[in-house]
Parts: sequence; structure tokens; C-alpha cells
Amino acid sequence: MKYIDSDLYWGKVKVKDIAKLVGTPFYLYKYDVINRAFKKVDNAFEGIEHILCYALKANSNLFILKMISQWGYGAEVVSGGELLLALKGGFKPEKIVFSGSGKSETEIEYGIKNNILLFNAESWKEILIINKISKKYKKIQKILIRINPDINPETHRYTTTGLKGEKFGIEWKKVPEVLTKTKLLSNVKTVGIHIHLGSQIVKKEPFIMCANFIKKFIKTAESSGIKLKYINIGGGLGIDYENDFPISDKVSGKKEKALTAKEWADTFIYKNNWRDKILIIEPGRFVMAKGGIIVTKILYKKRSFGKIFYIVDAGMNDFIRPSLYNAYHNIMPLQKRGEKQINVDVVGPICESGDFFAKNRNLPVQKNGDLLAILSAGAYGRCFSSNYNSRLRIPEILIKNNKTAIIRHKESANELINNQPIETIWIDLKGKQTTKFLKNKNLSIPFGKFSATGNDFIIIDNRENILKGLNLKNLFSYICQRKTSAGADGVIVIEKGEKKYRVSFYNPDGSTAESCGNGLRALALFLMKHNTLFSEQIIESKDGIHEIKFQGNKPKVQMFIFKKSFKEKTLLIDNKKIKGYIINSGVPHFVILGKNTEDPKLMDTAKKIRFNSVFEPFGTNVDFIKKIKTDKIMIRTYERGVEAETLSCGTGAVAAYYIARKILKLKSPIKVITKGGELIISEEKGKIFLSGEVKEVYQGVFNLADIQF
Ligand code: LLP
Repeated sequence: MKYIDSDLYWGKVKVKDIAKLVGTPFYLYKYDVINRAFKKVDNAFEGIEHILCYALKANSNLFILKMISQWGYGAEVVSGGELLLALKGGFKPEKIVFSGSGKSETEIEYGIKNNILLFNAESWKEILIINKISKKYKKIQKILIRINPDINPETHRYTTTGLKGEKFGIEWKKVPEVLTKTKLLSNVKTVGIHIHLGSQIVKKEPFIMCANFIKKFIKTAESSGIKLKYINIGGGLGIDYENDFPISDKVSGKKEKALTAKEWADTFIYKNNWRDKILIIEPGRFVMAKGGIIVTKILYKKRSFGKIFYIVDAGMNDFIRPSLYNAYHNIMPLQKRGEKQINVDVVGPICESGDFFAKNRNLPVQKNGDLLAILSAGAYGRCFSSNYNSRLRIPEILIKNNKTAIIRHKESANELINNQPIETIWIDLKGKQTTKFLKNKNLSIPFGKFSATGNDFIIIDNRENILKGLNLKNLFSYICQRKTSAGADGVIVIEKGEKKYRVSFYNPDGSTAESCGNGLRALALFLMKHNTLFSEQIIESKDGIHEIKFQGNKPKVQMFIFKKSFKEKTLLIDNKKIKGYIINSGVPHFVILGKNTEDPKLMDTAKKIRFNSVFEPFGTNVDFIKKIKTDKIMIRTYERGVEAETLSCGTGAVAAYYIARKILKLKSPIKVITKGGELIISEEKGKIFLSGEVKEVYQGVFNLADIQF
């Protein structure tokens, strides 16, 4: 970072230019600074087998996580949310470790299901729960025992974790007993230990004590027959906040006051014989802090009782470290206005006197509207921000190769309002509903729009009952209208099931449908994209329980054939005999073989069949199929409810598959070519699966404020 003609540059980028583009305040990161810091730590441990598990809590921006996983590193997570982000960010499960003093059963299950490397277990009770859940999945889960070694890291009280009196880990004296007891459990295996002393540790001594402790511990444990393969030394390596440039800038030439990565690594390496061990390190701050800054604008320069305040547009809700830990962060103006300095307080707009970034700091003279950079804010910054004072959280920008990109947009006003119904349902203590839900006057309904081989769907997550009290038939027929609304071939609503998701399908006329194959595929993708945290591999719909599988990010959904419904039937349409097969694949289909699928009049015939008295009162879908290869058929489908031809129909393809197998004697898998694309139907252990192209088109929010339902 340097000034050129009084303007502040980060690398070759004039920081002010970004502010012009995106407005203030914002977080700004630099790719190469972060990359270099990672390499610095990684290289420091060269020669010892180790896994660098980046501590996501320092910064969990998804784009940044993707960068880090692509560099080949692992992740340390402390919640289900962080695990979700780590997986989405591309970290390999076998390089993910899960810490935390209060992991819930759901979080533990989520970790086990996703085959993470190990848990850093923090109590005997937690170990028992890991054992119970891993038994359910017929696994043996690796764990490390987190030890509280009672060592003072000489850092801020709030970031001290390995000292007597803190909640973390198991007190060292009790660990041998826990190790012995754990040996008796059938579904966990202790493979090592974990110690994290605290954070922002800048002295060598605490780490030396820790290394000595580990050495002694290994000796005692292994002499009593307990093999420790993994030694996790946690994170904690601090940085010199007063001297921001040693990583990024050789110009300053200043000696860093904090321990270096090499010194940190050497402390452990020289004290121990690691030949048969795998070391885990969990750095957060050291690798992220210096790669990020906050850019903020001076809204008002104000003098009060002789003191000068720069009141800026970022607040403690955006960056809490100065308020919470009295942390020091350098502040630099984006534009120098001479050499003169004045003593100021840099404060935010929040209604608390703890809302400050610097107190009694000598800073260059600035004017109203000038911009400031708060340095070393890449770690524990944006991820630690809140909506306090109902402020919108600020965007994140990344510089890479002198180009910039927005890697998180500014929060929208909608996000402040969503999920908070203005009118709600009152529940008495016995769980009975006491007040009827009234008209939703200001209701916003978030949704996803998906397309699956030419069928488009609106998907609404109703697990929190956001649709309560609405006339769904009216609402959904409105939503499905093209031109006057979003438009769709159907609406899919997700409800809370007993254990699984329950799902309901609605036709464009607002009536319900029993099932929809393409809809299920869209739904599977929706759950993967938005809800994997609590996702089940099973979906319950009116026609039964569907299994869902993923190949990469392509879902494959289980479909049904109700074989008993099969019947050959000849109809008389326009005085012509038409032979077909009745088969129910979740919804009723009438499948006709061998017709010319290019025939433009086909749908007129289909419509007549659909309303033929034979199928009353419910009607039927109508499919025309033609064999084109030994493993390929063409299909055209008239859909009941849509009352027209659709580009593709999942249940239709399954019905066609059944008839092609039974009558045409084709073998599984069969490719079904629809107007919207190719569907593949396969059979696995007697179960039928449907797959094919599916994508998310957009997400949105229906604003029902002015619409009466
Ligand atoms: N591993 C465990 C188990 C941790 O609890 C932490 C941080 C780390 C690794 C990463 O530590 P680092 O390398 O970043 O020091 N909000 C505070 C820092 C809290 C650290 C919590 N645990 C701050 O802004 O200073």
C-alpha cells in the first residue's frame, strides 16, 4: 500500500476508484496478500506432514473460501453453518475438522453424514453423542480430544481459551481417563489431541509451553498404549496490528513485533519428534487479517468541547474489534492533504459511545466527504458484523491481478423485513392456535425459479408457515400467469414433515397434483442450493416417499410405477380406434405407441383423450412415444392441469419407460427425448430413478402488499 500523488494505492489499484464505483462503506480484500500469508504459514511447516485447516470463523466469504480450497487447503469449522459454507466453498470433507464447545446433535450428524475428517471433541458427553450418531450411520468417527492445558497465552481475556477457568476443552488432568473410557466405545476412535491456546498470540513463550506440554503428553499417552496420530496445535498466531506491511510491503522495512510464522512452526518442530504424526494447524487471523481493509467516508467532521471527531459511515456493527477488544487498527486517508496531523477520535454513526475505530489518534487533516481506510480488517470483520441499529451489512470487494470484483453485495432492505411476519399466529401453551391468521397485508414471499428440461417451477419454502392464511389456489394460479406475474408450469411448496420434507405440487390453475418428476428434480436442486444444512435425502409427496441422490450437483430422483394400474385400452376418437396403455406413475398417463411424434395435430387428439369419459372424473395425461434407438425413445406429452402440451414431463417419461420396457422390450437405462431435452430413466435395485438437466434461473421475492388473496 502506498501513496502516488497523494492517492492511496493497493498494488496498482487506486482505492478511491473502487469507492466511486460501489459507494462506502465496504470491505476490500487483496488476493495475493491472502495467498502469500497462506504460503508463509504452509511453508513454515515444510518437512512435517501437516494439514492446514483454515479457521473459517476469521472470514467465511464464499468466494474467498473457494480461493482457499482451490489452493488445496483444508478447513476448521465451528458450526453447521460454517460446515455448509466450507462444503459449498469446495473444501474436501477429508480435510475438514469440526471444533466448538457446544456442538448440537444436528451439527454433529451433519458432520458425520458429510464424512468430515474428524471432530475436536470438547467433553465426555459430546463424545457419547458422536458415538451414538456415528453408530446410526454404521461408521467409526475419528475424534481428537481437545485439551485445556492451563497455559496463559498472554492475549486479550476474551480470546484466551486454553487457560484454567475457560469453558474450552477437557482439563488436562482428566484427559487420560477420557482416553481410556473412549477406547471402550464402538463407534468413535481417538486419533489424537487438539490444543488451541487462544488468539492474537504475539509471544513465543506460550507456544513453547504448549510444545513442551504436548511432548510430555504424547510420551505418557503412548507409554500406556494410546497411539496419537494427529496433533492439532490450533491457530492463534497473532499479527502486528501497528505495523501493517511486513507481508505486503518490503518498503516499510520495519521489524514486525509479533512472532513470525516460521518462529511459530519452529517452536513445535524443535520440541517434538513428529515423524509418525500428522500435524493439524488452524490459522485464521494470520492468513486473513492483512489481506482486508474497510473503506469508510467521513460524514461529519465535528468539534465538541475542544475534541475533534471524524464521524464516519461505518459503525461498530460493521467492524466490532475496536469496540469489543479495544483493538488497535491503523487508519490511513485515501487522499493525503499535506503533512499536517491532528488528534481525533474516529467514530461511527451508532447510538453507543463504544462505537469507535480510533481514540485520540494523530491523523492527517481531512475534510467532510474524505475517505479513510481501516487496515488489517480481513479477519473477524465482515463475518462478525451485525444489523445493529437496523443497518444493512456492507459489501465485499476483491482485488485480483489489478481487477476488482464484488464478492458479496450490500444487504438489501428486503433482508431486514423478510422472515418477520407483521401479523402472526398466536399459540397458547398447549400448542393450540388461538387467533386466526388475518389477511397478509405486507407479505413478502421469497421463492426460487427453476427450470428442468423446459418445465419451469416456482419453489416456495413454507416450513415456517409463511403461506398461512392465504388462499393458495388463487395465489398460485396468479403466480403461474405469464406476462402478469412470474409465470410457471407449477408451484412447489415445501412443508415440514415428521422427519422428512413434505412437498406439495400445484398446477397453474391452482389445483393440486399428486406428483411431478421434473418438479422433484427442481426441488432436489433447490434443497441442495439453499437448505443442505438440514436436508434429508428423502422427500415425502402425495404419491409416496422419494429417495434423492446426487451425482456431483446433478440430482437423481426416485419415481414410482403403480403396476396394478396398467391396462391396455382402445378408445374411439373421431371415429378412429386408438390403442394405448393406462399406467400410473404418480399421476395417470395414457401412453400411445408408434404415432408420428412430429404430427402437428397430435395435441388435438390428446385433448380429446384427456377429456374422454373413460377417464372421468380425474382425466389423464396423454403421451405419444416412438422408439428411435435400442436405448432411446421420443415423447410428446399433453399435461392435464396445464391443459396443453408441455416441453417435458417427468412422470410421462417414467410412464413411457415402463411401456417401452414392457411392450417394446427395451432395456434400462432408457433415454427419453422430450421437446425440452433429454431425460434418463434408470433402475437401481428395483427402484426407478429420473435424471436430466435442471438449473436455478433466479431467486426473488413476491410482494403481496397490494394483492388480495
Ligand atoms: N482454532 C480454534 C479452535 C479457534 O477457536 C480459533 C479462533 C482458531 C483456530 C483460529 O484462531 P486465529 O488463528 O484466528 O487466532 N474475534 C477475535 C478472535 C476470536 C478467535 C476465536 N477462535 C478477534 O477479533 O480477535
